[in-house]
Amino acid sequence: MKVLVIGNGGREHALVWKLAQNPAIDRLYCAPGNPGIEAFAECAPIRPDDLQSLLQFAKEKSIDFTVVGPELPLVHGIADMFQKEGLKLFGPSRGAARIEGSKSFAKDFMQRYHIPTAGYEVFKSMANARNYIWNHEGKLVVKADGLAAGKGSLVCETKSDAQKALEEMMLRNVFGEAGHRVVIEEFLEGDEVSVLAFSDGKTVLPLIPAQDHKAVFDNDLGPNTGGMGAYAPVPFVNEKLLREIRETVLEPTIRGMAKDGNPYKGILYAGLMLTEEGPKVIEFNCRFGDPESQAILPLLKSDLLEGMMAVVNGNLADYNLEIEDRSAVCVIMASEGYPGPYEKGKEITGLDSDFGADTIIFHAGTKRVNGKLLTNGGRVLGVTHLAQSLKDAIEGAYKAVKSIFFEGAYYRTDIGKKGLRNI
Ligand code: AMP
Ligand code: GLY
Repeated sequence: MKVLVIGNGGREHALVWKLAQNPAIDRLYCAPGNPGIEAFAECAPIRPDDLQSLLQFAKEKSIDFTVVGPELPLVHGIADMFQKEGLKLFGPSRGAARIEGSKSFAKDFMQRYHIPTAGYEVFKSMANARNYIWNHEGKLVVKADGLAAGKGSLVCETKSDAQKALEEMMLRNVFGEAGHRVVIEEFLEGDEVSVLAFSDGKTVLPLIPAQDHKAVFDNDLGPNTGGMGAYAPVPFVNEKLLREIRETVLEPTIRGMAKDGNPYKGILYAGLMLTEEGPKVIEFNCRFGDPESQAILPLLKSDLLEGMMAVVNGNLADYNLEIEDRSAVCVIMASEGYPGPYEKGKEITGLDSDFGADTIIFHAGTKRVNGKLLTNGGRVLGVTHLAQSLKDAIEGAYKAVKSIFFEGAYYRTDIGKKGLRNI
């Protein structure tokens, strides 16, 4: 079988690493991939937003199955395009991917189907949005409606912060078109968890709950990033809570999408806040999370391709999901300055150490030049360690991190810590 993975980050390295374990795959391709992915897949230099070239490549290479990593091609309709040509692809249709592509769509959808989420209003007019801010008591979150690479949501402590966020989006166009419509919502207190689930449009099958660490600094301080680390499972998401999440969020979402004519097939990522009133949705994503996938996928005992094929073929109910009884922690090593401006091209050393079978180094922003491995992005590497306990997984991940070097390497030192507290 020939399989193509689209994307070039740590998530895609984790996807390729896991898919490569299926013996039925004889050719694995990745577009565009990265130096870590090259160990498992043939990389083709096609950008994830170049849908026409991806389609052409899939036809030329007679690809049997395509897996989409990032949201952009999904929001732009790659699933519909491949389906029209009779090609199998894992990822939701353009209509279903709106659940991530437009925050106002997602919020209106949740309201219609009584899916718990923060109270909100949608604005296209600056004057109305300003009025809302000044008449509201309490912290607010101002969100660009469209895709903004994970940076489009600003948590605002004061009314004037919210006003500033609004001006950035609506007047100064920092997120371009994506910020011309904004969602303003109430701030939710609680622990955040990511629940990723397979859905074939009818059946929904949650994977292991994970916790991301969005803020750049320890103790969740500083600006939001794409995610500085993740761990799974999350000890305080017990069976009962997972059932509640399934019944109040995942199942009504799948039913609602099907009812609205957009059956959801792919990974449904629910970003949740565990509030005193129960779990509430912060956001939906239409794909695997990054870095969550770098903790979740190494814990899957079942075959990933079989699960994805069950989603595409509509027989997810028959898929047997097995998960290892261990913990995984992924610590992101980033370039100093990220999520702001940072330098690239720093040599990475230490990767040839013997880390052992329980440590996996996923590449995110790296490139190879003249045989040397260099930094090439904000998030550079994801260092994952698997162990019997969360505590040991944390220790193992940091032990590996400390033996990898590049100038300006930055990482949080508290990944997984929230999972260790007594509950
Ligand atoms: P989003 O872009 O919607 O995923 O938001 C990015 C991050 O901002 C989330 O992971 C939360 O940490 C924070 N956030 C977003 N919305 C809210 C909210 N309503 N209440 C509290 N924090 C939020
Ligand atoms: N880790 C957050 C995301 O993948 O959107």
